[in-house]
Amino acid sequence: MDARTMRDEGVVRLEERDGYGILTIDNPPVNAGSTAVRAGLLACLAAGCAADLKGIVILGAGRTFIAGSDIREFGAPLAAPELPDVIAAVEACPHPVCAAIHGASLGGGFELALGCDYRVAAPGAVVGLPEVTLGMVPGAGGTQRLPRLTGIARAIPLVCAGKRVAAPEALRLGMVDALADGPEAEALIAAAVAVIDGAPGKRLLRDLPVPEDDPEAIEKAEAAALRRGKGRPNVAEAIRLLKLAAHTPAATALPEERASFQSLRLQEEAFALRHLFFAERAAGRIDGLEARPAPLGRIGIVGGGTMGQGIARAVLAAGLPVTLVEMDAQARDRAVAAIAKSLRAQVDKGRLGADKAEGRLALLGASDRLADLAGCDLVIEAVFEDMAVKQDLFAALDGVLKDGAVLATNTSYLDIDAMASVTNRAADVVGLHFFAPADIMKLLEVVRTADSSDRTLATALALGKRLGKQAVVARVSEGFIGNRIYAAYRRHAEYLVEDGAAPEQVDAAATSFGFAMGPFAVGDMSGLDIAWNMRKRLAATRDPAERYVTIPDRLCEAGRLGRKTGGGWYDYASGRAEPSDAVAEIIARARADKGITPRALDAEAIQGRLLGAIVREAALVLAEGIAQRPGDIDVVLVHGFGFPRWTGGPLWWASGETPARIAGMIAAVAEAEGRPVSPEPVEAALATLRQERADIEKRKAGDA
Ligand code: COA
Repeated sequence: MDARTMRDEGVVRLEERDGYGILTIDNPPVNAGSTAVRAGLLACLAAGCAADLKGIVILGAGRTFIAGSDIREFGAPLAAPELPDVIAAVEACPHPVCAAIHGASLGGGFELALGCDYRVAAPGAVVGLPEVTLGMVPGAGGTQRLPRLTGIARAIPLVCAGKRVAAPEALRLGMVDALADGPEAEALIAAAVAVIDGAPGKRLLRDLPVPEDDPEAIEKAEAAALRRGKGRPNVAEAIRLLKLAAHTPAATALPEERASFQSLRLQEEAFALRHLFFAERAAGRIDGLEARPAPLGRIGIVGGGTMGQGIARAVLAAGLPVTLVEMDAQARDRAVAAIAKSLRAQVDKGRLGADKAEGRLALLGASDRLADLAGCDLVIEAVFEDMAVKQDLFAALDGVLKDGAVLATNTSYLDIDAMASVTNRAADVVGLHFFAPADIMKLLEVVRTADSSDRTLATALALGKRLGKQAVVARVSEGFIGNRIYAAYRRHAEYLVEDGAAPEQVDAAATSFGFAMGPFAVGDMSGLDIAWNMRKRLAATRDPAERYVTIPDRLCEAGRLGRKTGGGWYDYASGRAEPSDAVAEIIARARADKGITPRALDAEAIQGRLLGAIVREAALVLAEGIAQRPGDIDVVLVHGFGFPRWTGGPLWWASGETPARIAGMIAAVAEAEGRPVSPEPVEAALATLRQERADIEKRKAGDA
């Protein structure tokens, strides 16, 4: 096809090919819809609409259509032209306009596509409206145009959960009109031209009626979305706007949606979620790391217990072959059977196609001999948490693995340098700390030792990406980033109980802040013996001056190990957690033994102490270089420990509190610990985030 350039605006250009206008957005890396892109689109549209063309195709250069509006612009005044202006120009264009999507068409990118008359997509593309997950609502017609294609009941979960819909599913739902043969420009253009040629002409979604839905289906979708949305105001607002589409003309509803978007994007939650958006992308990166990852063929896993099985499922789901080693044939067979059973259970629940499950199982090899790991490119050990056991295993693996194979440990606490020291390949050793269940939880701490090479780190990060994990780079320290901070939080929860609070009061204060569960309910769920074993392990090295609460030890000694034994911090006779008289007695005795007179603590004091403990430990983790950036800590706590996402994570949250409140919290932490606590690391940890907030306020002021 001959192409003739009609207009070139840099980030957007218009060419004429065989009587069609081909409008290409070229704003690497992801064609984010910036002001320049919007201006370029308007200019090229003006040229195309004025020309004699059979239709216009909009596509993206590079790896994607438009990943969304430029999120960096949302915190500042939006410069003209705005996206609704561009969409209005598409609608007013006399020629039919078709969006030809490959890669991602999300947020403003999909709203632009919805503003076109038609949409085609490459088979591997994804479309969706993720604005709600960023604390906002769609602001350029998404809530009004999408339900005209899908109906309201279907649109509610799509918008409220910010679902990314794969192209074949999008075709089924009517979100796109046809699939192209592939993601290449030629295939996309051919598909778009075919749709334009076969269509009667313009088709403005805003003028279409909303398909009628069963009111019960809408109610059900609404209730489910509100539940899932954890009461966030923008979720309710998105539902209201979607329902508006059924009975309000677009001319009235669109400005209402825009006003809502304009207000929500400047609220605290939207800033917090934007902070996390960028923090998530930075956390898996090591500045200056240029090494290329080693190719990943086969992955070895040693240990077929709960963790090993979960890691195996995660690796198999990514399409990588696995060799799973258990030390005896029976344990090996049990592990393989358990993995097969869990995959089949997913099939029975309709979450996984039977062919996919079989495909994954076909990738699973098992053995009871370490020597069978010789061909693996990366081996993850997930055996018992005991240094001697792990060191023996590492020494043995060192003897069988091929040169350059990466040796990873899934330890959650132990010193990985000490493990690496028994091998002759310290540079190839790294921590890959998965969270249980490893195939569901997204967080992955990539722990670098003193000797981990750049190539090892790059390979570990590449594996994380391949598994779809949220990687965060950490350095070796007892508990790394997450478990170390969580241990401080749990310690202070115990101090609070010794000081006078009931366990259920502490848990209630945590959940009312937004934690998914309170610390004691979490302890009961995972089993109190894990921390008990750790305390026993660390007993010899514990600072005798450190305050030590004996209540958890007493619970364990009484056989109260948590849910699995029918009781822990709570009783579970009824199946639900109930405050326990027996526990109250143990607590009273522990207090009496130390001569502590219990005092009343209100929810605010409890919350202040819990958050103070987290923020203080986070600051130490940062000061010691265990975490690279404040945002990395926010990502870990949000993804791995149920810290409420909409706060932006503990450090972002703390940076928005007054310095006086933070100082008060740190003083309370010091008082509880019975020793002075320097405020300096906390001040240092919050400094850049406070500066960021100050800049935001300045930009916002310009918005007024
Ligand atoms: N606005 C601004 N920058 C964006 C962006 C957006 N909408 N989407 C991605 N980026 C940036 C990332 O921050 C990253 O920048 P960096 O390299 O400086 O860190 C870069 O583009 C690449 O993004 P990344 O996510 O690392 O690439 P990927 O190939 O793994 O994934 C996408 C590509 C499009 C799937 C992914 O970027 C994505 O989901 N983006 C968010 C889309 C979205 O939520 N849009 C709705 C906005 S309302």
